[in-house]
Amino acid sequence: MICNNLSINEKGHLVFAGMDTMELAQKYGTPLYLLDEAKIREKCRIYKRAMAREFGASALPLYAGKALCIKDIYRIMREEEMGIDVVSSGEVFTAHAAGFPMGNAYFHGNNKTDRDVAYAMECGVGYFVCDNEEELFAIEREANARGITQKILLRLTPGIDPHTHKAISTGRVDSKFGAAIETGQAMALTRVALSQAHIDLRGFHCHIGSQIFETEPFTDAADIMLRFVASAKAELGYTARELNLGGGMGVRYLEEHPTIDYAENIAIIAQKMREACASLGIDMPAIRMEPGRSIVADAGLTLYTVGTLKTIPGFRHYVSIDGGMPDNPRYALYQSPYSVVAASRMNDKRDTVCTVAGRCCESGDLIQEGVPLPKPCRGDILAVLTTGAYNYAMASNYNRLPRPAMLMLADGRERLILRRETFEDLIRNEL
Ligand code: LLP
Repeated sequence: MICNNLSINEKGHLVFAGMDTMELAQKYGTPLYLLDEAKIREKCRIYKRAMAREFGASALPLYAGKALCIKDIYRIMREEEMGIDVVSSGEVFTAHAAGFPMGNAYFHGNNKTDRDVAYAMECGVGYFVCDNEEELFAIEREANARGITQKILLRLTPGIDPHTHKAISTGRVDSKFGAAIETGQAMALTRVALSQAHIDLRGFHCHIGSQIFETEPFTDAADIMLRFVASAKAELGYTARELNLGGGMGVRYLEEHPTIDYAENIAIIAQKMREACASLGIDMPAIRMEPGRSIVADAGLTLYTVGTLKTIPGFRHYVSIDGGMPDNPRYALYQSPYSVVAASRMNDKRDTVCTVAGRCCESGDLIQEGVPLPKPCRGDILAVLTTGAYNYAMASNYNRLPRPAMLMLADGRERLILRRETFEDLIRNEL
């Protein structure tokens, strides 16, 4: 199967993180999100060890909470001594509420309001990844008012197109994020940042996109960023101490996707960077990376119950489930691939090619097309695999569907970490 935390037991049921998914579906109902704590920890350790080995003790991976932002994740990140990337006051609040040491938080976003800036400083956020000049002045003003010096990185766009889905490719010159190196705006912003009395410019950040399988886009981006570090030293006499390369390493959603060796990728990127530093005559800055998807995606899985099978002769078989785009909008938004299996009948012949449809009043509400399944029956349990990233994080209440519950699985036991929303929750904010 696509990940080593999946197997099949003697009853022909799907086993995830050592637990029978059918038993969990029966006990907690569906739709149901499952998380595998050991897998999350394993991924954190892969990044931590590989970065320490390749870049030295000053390196730190930051978990990008936009992939999955809940308190229990920050407990794990704290215990694993990861840093974090937060992208809104809501994420700052969640991490802070979970007791995460906020000095290791990097605050992102292309439009931080004055309130965001003040709130993040209030919570002791260590670093702001500053996107633009107006934000720079807002940070300077707030830091001045508080009598502190705020550490920042500047977000730069190295102009790399990682050949990924356009909507999630954020590092090109034409981008709402950051200041472009190519246009000279990055150097101009660096100059202004250096002249602010209450700002400590620690270095630079870039993020080139998401779900990237190759290493070349990362080595290309790192090369451009290191050249920029060298130019800033030559032109401004400024030595960057930190370089943050963003997130974006891909994960395996389908059998045909490659298995990514993250440690090996980090070694390849580091080797190229050492060569670049030597030829540019600069020291290697302290390196940050911001994996989101590759930390949590395959640590997650979603269970659904089949309602109906509708066969349209000459066209296709629609299998309808009790969730859909509100709990996983990624096929509707990006046509993202997913592996879907019949968790209750893993050994049955997969003889029916199905379109897995959600229950929303919208024909685009599909989870996946072209899925071979044993001919589905009402009551079957389907598992959509690799849903740990950007599923619950992007979930909505469209059609007033309450969001699912989430279980954390560890050491053969489950723990409810997110209760299922109730109908009362749906009207809670209505006056
Ligand atoms: N750092 C920054 C500044 C980012 O913008 C992102 C993702 C990450 C790190 C983490 O990237 P990852 O390692 O997860 O690829 N909703 C889309 C993904 C959007 C990603 C946005 N930024 C999806 O469902 O595919």
